[in-house]
Amino acid sequence: MTQRYDLVVIGGGPAGYTAAVRASRLGMKTACIERSSRLGGVCLNVGCIPSKALLDSSEIYELARLRMKTHGVLAKEIQLDLAEAMKRKEAVVAELTGQVRRLLESNRVDIVQGDARLISANHVEVSTESGAVSLEAGFVLLAIGSRPIELSQLPIDGKTVVDSTGALSFDAVPKHLAVIGAGAIGLELGSVWRRYGAEVTVIEMLPQVVPNLDGQISRTLKRILSKQGMQFLLKTKVLSADVRPEEVTLHLDEEGRPGSLTVDKVLVAVGRIPNTDGPGLSEIGVQIDPKTRRIVADSRLQTSVKGVFAAGDLVPGPMLAHKAMAEGIAAVEAMTGIEPDLSDDLIPSVIYTDPEVASVGHSEEWLKNQGIAYISGVFPYGGNGRAWCAGETDGLAKVIAHAKTDRLLGIHLIGPRASDIIAECVMAMRMGASAEELASTVHAHPTFSEALMEAAGIAGATRKAKAQPKS
Ligand code: NAI
Repeated sequence: MTQRYDLVVIGGGPAGYTAAVRASRLGMKTACIERSSRLGGVCLNVGCIPSKALLDSSEIYELARLRMKTHGVLAKEIQLDLAEAMKRKEAVVAELTGQVRRLLESNRVDIVQGDARLISANHVEVSTESGAVSLEAGFVLLAIGSRPIELSQLPIDGKTVVDSTGALSFDAVPKHLAVIGAGAIGLELGSVWRRYGAEVTVIEMLPQVVPNLDGQISRTLKRILSKQGMQFLLKTKVLSADVRPEEVTLHLDEEGRPGSLTVDKVLVAVGRIPNTDGPGLSEIGVQIDPKTRRIVADSRLQTSVKGVFAAGDLVPGPMLAHKAMAEGIAAVEAMTGIEPDLSDDLIPSVIYTDPEVASVGHSEEWLKNQGIAYISGVFPYGGNGRAWCAGETDGLAKVIAHAKTDRLLGIHLIGPRASDIIAECVMAMRMGASAEELASTVHAHPTFSEALMEAAGIAGATRKAKAQPKS
């Protein structure tokens, strides 16, 4: 029997479930197909949410061990109960994936559990536990995400060599964890296990951590994480590995010199690839960029096949849950004739280390490369009253604006609550604000966000000073 829908969404992650809800609210009869019994995709099940749950738990552990006494709180015996932290993480995931299911149900989205395959632009077949189901679709939205990249010299075995999923579920603290890749996943999960007591060595082939970050922020992050005890081998490649049941020896090329490192666990976090080899995409003619393996889509997120749209990690841009959600909504609205208003330049990114890193817009290096004249203002958290009260004075706020127009071009924060303060920065940039407007916006005192205001003021003052005729 064939069921008919206005929209069939394939994938129940952030792009898919957000799109399904919006479509239903816009009056479209909608189905959302998801293979797993739990909705929410990588983000909720084995990504953003469980990693933040463990980051928060491990931060409390470190706070209790190292910083509580500076606030006059004395505790005799601080102990780690890793099983309890894992149980809590599971409970958070169960709660939030349950909330997504209830959200879809209350918005009358039909949830179909099974493996979807595109037969044509209007026909999706799902193999479910109770047999094949055929869905006819006015529109199809592809939202099947991405998966971790594997290294051929270091295949994931789920025990000693793990990907991010495995590193969220170790049942004991590793003695020595090697992390391959100094991206967001490597630094966040590396931080979790370092706080819990593991020796952590991060191996990165490029000369800086989180290579696409503004250089000054990246250097500051590396300095702070090193001070916390994380070790870094930059410009280093893993040539081969001897994997034994209890340990792994990595054979390295450290800036041209041979080296080796023996550890009991390895986390491979070298990026993700989109699932574009998935169910029937190329068979029905969905164009895929052979270089990036991303789906080629127009500004409305429609693929080369009319009526088939794509959102999230499948299409170009940063692989981030909030970008996927925004695209899911934009794609659905585009189906109903609303033009999307999306810009990758205005997608914030956050790394949940301690301190947090958050940025939006362009880095200094990018602007230099493009030959765009800019000025920047930097304000250290050491000059921020609230940071002293909290005892979190390491880090800086950096505001970059156009040298002539003063329009904001990029904002980069490394400091407490950067993940929340960045929202204001995205809004300012979206409204086309200038550094001066940001600087003259009254910020509550004492707050961490005053560092942002101060940095904007320094950028504005620098621009004015440069504009003064020299006497
Ligand atoms: P990534 O692309 O952010 O970083 C991977 C790092 O590995 C890069 O620095 C790269 O130079 C390095 N690398 C690649 N191959 C290597 C090799 N053979 N040896 C040594 N280093 C190597 O990827 P990551 O951290 O795996 O994250 C995947 C995606 O998930 C990213 O798009 C990331 O933005 C997203 N994500 C976002 C988070 C957040 O917003 N807080 C948290 C976790 C993931």
